[in-house]
Amino acid sequence: MKAKLTATAALMMAGALALSGCGGAATSGTAGGGGGGDAEQGLDGRGPITYVQGKDNSNVVRPLIEKWNAAHPNEKVTFKEQTDQADQQHDDLVQHFQAKGADYDVVDVDVVWTAEFAAKGWLQPLKDKMALDTSAMLKPTVDSGTYKGTLYAAPQTSDGGILYYRKDLVPTAPTTWEEMMGMCSIAKANNIGCYAGQFSKYEGLTVNASEAINSSGGSVLDKDGKPSLNTADAKAGLENLAKAYADGNIPKEAITYKEEESRQAFQDGKLLFLRNWPYVYNLATTEGSSKVKDVLGMTALPGKDGPGASTLGGHNLAVSVYSKNKATALDFLKFMTSEETEKFYATQGSLAPVLGALYEDKELVAKLPYLPVLKTSIENAVPRPVSPFYPAVTKAIQENAYSAIKGEKTVETALSDMQKSIESAGAAG
Ligand code: GLC
Repeated sequence: MKAKLTATAALMMAGALALSGCGGAATSGTAGGGGGGDAEQGLDGRGPITYVQGKDNSNVVRPLIEKWNAAHPNEKVTFKEQTDQADQQHDDLVQHFQAKGADYDVVDVDVVWTAEFAAKGWLQPLKDKMALDTSAMLKPTVDSGTYKGTLYAAPQTSDGGILYYRKDLVPTAPTTWEEMMGMCSIAKANNIGCYAGQFSKYEGLTVNASEAINSSGGSVLDKDGKPSLNTADAKAGLENLAKAYADGNIPKEAITYKEEESRQAFQDGKLLFLRNWPYVYNLATTEGSSKVKDVLGMTALPGKDGPGASTLGGHNLAVSVYSKNKATALDFLKFMTSEETEKFYATQGSLAPVLGALYEDKELVAKLPYLPVLKTSIENAVPRPVSPFYPAVTKAIQENAYSAIKGEKTVETALSDMQKSIESAGAAG
């Protein structure tokens, strides 16, 4: 299974790049592929900078910035915290880049935004004077910050989907979707919901729908980067979600869940199984109100004949081409991705480090025993399509998956519409 998934992931990457190639030029900024214009300015600039990121759910950013600021009184970092929703974070960054503002110096880039932002010429290429050593980082994380062979964003934290479950109620963790659904009788007997992920219509649904498709042997793109959704395996995957929603194994309120709502429901003791990211471990085991503190199980996402395939998530750090203080920004990137900081992400926020060695670090593994499982999840995770037109691609996936889960479209129609919309998104440039 592992070898097969790794190969699938590699093909998806190769194919994904093909999708990005079929749409023509998306460059609108003056920096383009990295030469000239804004990318040449501010390289030696030092002074105060602003760091922009989505909600700091795990409370890791503030302590790090305090530490940086104490050591750099003339190059202080101001933290601009966005909301906890991926789509709103994206739109806020786009608006600021479009205005060519110098007020967002360092930005947190979700792995799926790299291609779009780089193609627009908004991200400073991390090469030459701005080069950064990524040799100790996990390859999928470096790939996720790279576009057309150039690094644009420094891997900060990775993300792999995990199945959280109630150890007190589930005797042995399920490995397949069928097994998990079979255990929903336990949820019923305990008067709680069985399974939830993130099914609200936003980026998280693209993650969950892709996982359902990949975990049942299908794939969003084929090896040539063309959408391949009209297959029996893709149908079986999306059908799993639609059926579970229809029969109540996915509770009705889960159609509004994003990461935080689903975490809250699980922590409140209202769910038997939850698909979410590693950050949940820290909060579910430390928050005073958590009802699952001592009964939290973690395992791989369930698949068809064994473990399924996670969607690759994660966040990288980029410098805006419009920043005036790029020398400071680069130092800050190095600080935020250093070994010490990566350890802090793991111990303080149970976030997934990007440095491969940390997954074997005895002290860390003793504290976070699931690290080896997480590393396998990330190494085998399937990237989402890489495209400068990603907003249209993800919209095609979200909208059709949402309609299928709610039973507004048959799974077959949803997948064929998804296929057509991704095709036209790829060719829209
Ligand atoms: C997490 C992942 C990110 C994904 C998002 C969806 O933040 O790291 O890659 O796009 O969730 O909500």
